[in-house]
Amino acid sequence: MESTSRDVLDIVHVARDTSGSIVGAACLGRTGSRGILRSVVVAPNHRRKGLGSRLVAHCETSALIAGITEVYLRTATLPAFFVRNGYQELSRKVVPAAITAHPQFQSADPDGTKYLGKRL
Ligand SMILES: CC(C)(COP(=O)(O)OP(=O)(O)OC[C@H]1O[C@@H](n2cnc3c(N)ncnc32)[C@H](O)[C@@H]1OP(=O)(O)O)[C@@H](O)C(=O)NCCC(=O)NCCS
Repeated sequence: MESTSRDVLDIVHVARDTSGSIVGAACLGRTGSRGILRSVVVAPNHRRKGLGSRLVAHCETSALIAGITEVYLRTATLPAFFVRNGYQELSRKVVPAAITAHPQFQSADPDGTKYLGKRL
């Protein structure tokens, strides 16, 4: 797993079905005292059963254990899922510079990109 001085924590939680196949994942990155949630994904035939929310909750628990109290993300696909999980939509202007400077936030924003954050 890649690790740099700026991105010193990278935790991936995975969900498996009863046969052991991976059916979901979520990743928590870190920059300083803040967390970045990314790559939250659940296999199509396992969606809408709470798995995505549980993966996000596991990332948040990992964040708290690591001393992180704020988590940010950007998504163009399903902001409603994160709002449902307690994230607040934010203007990019109020997202901390340490987050927007992170490589994860460097590519151009696709249409419909939303920034969201949550204080844990
Ligand atoms: C986003 C994703 C991870 C959600 O996983 P999930 O296991 O279905 O999520 P949950 O069952 O915990 O959903 C919780 C709530 O989120 C919202 N939600 C989830 N999927 C939704 C959808 N397709 N449309 C609208 N709201 C949705 C709903 O409020 C849902 O509650 P409900 O089922 O009681 O209505 C999954 O849809 C996915 O993998 N999507 C493709 C990848 C992606 O877009 N990832 C997010 C950007 S990183």
